[in-house]
Amino acid sequence: MPRAIISPSVLASDFGQLTAECKRMMKDGAEWLHMDVMDGHFVPNITMGAPILTSVHKAIPDIFMDCHMMVANPIQWVDDIADAGGALYCFHIEATSDPLSVIKKVRSRNMQVGVAISPDTPSTAITDEVAEASDMLLVMTVHPGRGGQKFIEACVPKVAELRARFPEKNIEVDGGVGPKTIHVCAEAGSNVIVAGTAIFGAQDAAEVIKQLKASVMA
Ligand code: DX5
Ligand code: ZN
Repeated sequence: MPRAIISPSVLASDFGQLTAECKRMMKDGAEWLHMDVMDGHFVPNITMGAPILTSVHKAIPDIFMDCHMMVANPIQWVDDIADAGGALYCFHIEATSDPLSVIKKVRSRNMQVGVAISPDTPSTAITDEVAEASDMLLVMTVHPGRGGQKFIEACVPKVAELRARFPEKNIEVDGGVGPKTIHVCAEAGSNVIVAGTAIFGAQDAAEVIKQLKASVMA
């Protein structure tokens, strides 16, 4: 299995202090920062887009921005996110009928590619061809749209299915993940862990990051 990576979701941070919060997470042991981009179409909420990511990247040039694109037209934002300094562009398979074209475009802009599935989407929606062309597969463990929701354990078998098919790929879980729910995710084979509330809401974020990482490596 690939290495453990913790990617705190900044959706749970104080947006007024966004760059300071990202720096704090990196200091506390986070390898990536999870940037939830919502467009008000694919999901009802609107969060942030390329201008904010540009500012964060300018303030922290060595940040790895794991961009979770909850957008209705994934190909539309590839250039903007690449220009903003995005390191990984993860789009939803439900949002496109032509995932391979999105992947090609993301690659042409030298970003890593992720493909996400929402709770109601089966793991088989990610074909071998799509997975092979991607760096990361994201199994959502809540319905996309907002932070602080309850972990849906019924999504976990999809992690195991994808891990069995793709032993070398990064497999990310996102939604309601924290010290109480990490074990099933890790056991099923996820190695990239997104946590918003569990990390930003903690007294000691460094301790939670350490704990999550240790669970994946166990
Ligand atoms: C939900 C987002 C998640 C969310 C995670 O649509 O994709 O990244 O912010 O937050 P928690 O960990 O609080 O569920
Ligand atoms: Zn997310």
